[in-house]
Amino acid sequence: MGKVEQEFLKRSNPRQGQFKAPPFLPRRKSRGLGLERLDGERYLSREFMQAEWQQIWTKTWQLVTRVTDFDEPGAFHVHELGKESFLFVRGDDGQIRGFYNLCQHRGNRLCQVENGVLETFTCPFHGWQWNNDGSLKSVFAPEFFKQFAAGVPADELALSPVRVETWGGWLWFNMDHNSCTLREYLGDIGTHLETYEMDTWDLIDYQTFEWAGNWKHAVDAFNESYHFYALHPDMIQFGEGHDIPIELWGIHSRMLNWNRTVSELVADRETMTPLRTRMMTGRRAVPAGAKADVAHDTHLMEIAYRRSIENDTWLPYRHMNDEQLVHQYHYTFFPNSTFTQTPEGGAVFRYRPHATDPGRCYYDFFIIVRKPPGTPTTSTEERPPHKVHSLAEEVDYAAAFAGTFDPVLSNVLRQDGSNMATMQAGVASDAFKGMILSEQELRLRHFHKTIDDFISGKVSTNKLLPSDHYLEDERG
Ligand code: FES
Ligand SMILES: [Fe+2]
Repeated sequence: MGKVEQEFLKRSNPRQGQFKAPPFLPRRKSRGLGLERLDGERYLSREFMQAEWQQIWTKTWQLVTRVTDFDEPGAFHVHELGKESFLFVRGDDGQIRGFYNLCQHRGNRLCQVENGVLETFTCPFHGWQWNNDGSLKSVFAPEFFKQFAAGVPADELALSPVRVETWGGWLWFNMDHNSCTLREYLGDIGTHLETYEMDTWDLIDYQTFEWAGNWKHAVDAFNESYHFYALHPDMIQFGEGHDIPIELWGIHSRMLNWNRTVSELVADRETMTPLRTRMMTGRRAVPAGAKADVAHDTHLMEIAYRRSIENDTWLPYRHMNDEQLVHQYHYTFFPNSTFTQTPEGGAVFRYRPHATDPGRCYYDFFIIVRKPPGTPTTSTEERPPHKVHSLAEEVDYAAAFAGTFDPVLSNVLRQDGSNMATMQAGVASDAFKGMILSEQELRLRHFHKTIDDFISGKVSTNKLLPSDHYLEDERG
């Protein structure tokens, strides 16, 4: 048994021995991926950006938004990725489809608002129209077009489709019509996440932040917890990210951050401070007999509480392992969708490249919560407006998530974003020798290797790696 597993079992078996928290699925030891430094050019080069576009962005499954946002015929959502804009819409026949958001006349962006309900999409330039199933409705004054002398070629002028599929209550799309299915793509990690029954969750907030760094700096920043001690001094008061389990599952990966405990790096792990109370128990009265002696054992108390109500609650506690009840799994599907999960809700991150500048990216943040059965879904209009917080403004992260996210956690996001411009500048320095990655940063090494494998064609959506590819024992 490894050090991490021993530590977890030690924490999970308090002095009384009354609680037990075996790992969620056998912990899998992934092999190391070398010690080489990681070059800076991949964050800077337009050629590399173009290779990513051709081999990754146009071929992988991408998250759009919640399926429930398409709650009636004509409900649509516009989503941008790199240089492209896409229009997703539920047709009058009930089917959700996706298209390049592109007028077939002279190439204008067809739909220029993000959300709404429309039976007909009309290009604002010359008024060509499409139905909400993508078929051409009308060409204004077709008699002016000699090309249409024999009739308007409706099939040729239909909107260009992309593939769409749904999973976990989310709509996904893929520009590549020859890719494997979404479910094949998500693989075993998709199965893990199905435990959380995300189909029933409710999106309550969605905000976007433009950051002055390459999109991979943002992925890197969230896919390791080695930075918690230096960058997030508040967070280690109520969570642990030190020497954590990391697992590679084919092209995807996950890690486990322990919630409702105090980091072993903090001197006082015993006192239940107001911050710890707020973040670890939510000020909830705890049942008799489920008392944590010290702050760092709060997760044990919470496991006992959740177990005590598992047969009486609408939350999926009874299907879950003790680890899942209180801790936070952090899953990243290659290349850019991250799910951070608790039984009650989660934050979903999506990272998007800028259309032209390798030194900029978009970080999307979705907050989803599980609500009692029968609770109406929060509509797009009921949510705080989706805003792209641009580089041109001083972003107040607490204000951006007012009412939906604890200000302490909003501040953690601000801290994460604070390194983007400085990292982008640093890797461009003549003196930069390449990144030195620790084993706690193994997911970064794996992520960049996967990028290289897609670019070289060694791996693709039709040549996926088996989920045990990086297991230490089986493949060595
Ligand atoms: S560009 Fe759209 S109708 Fe002319
Ligand atoms: Fe962070």
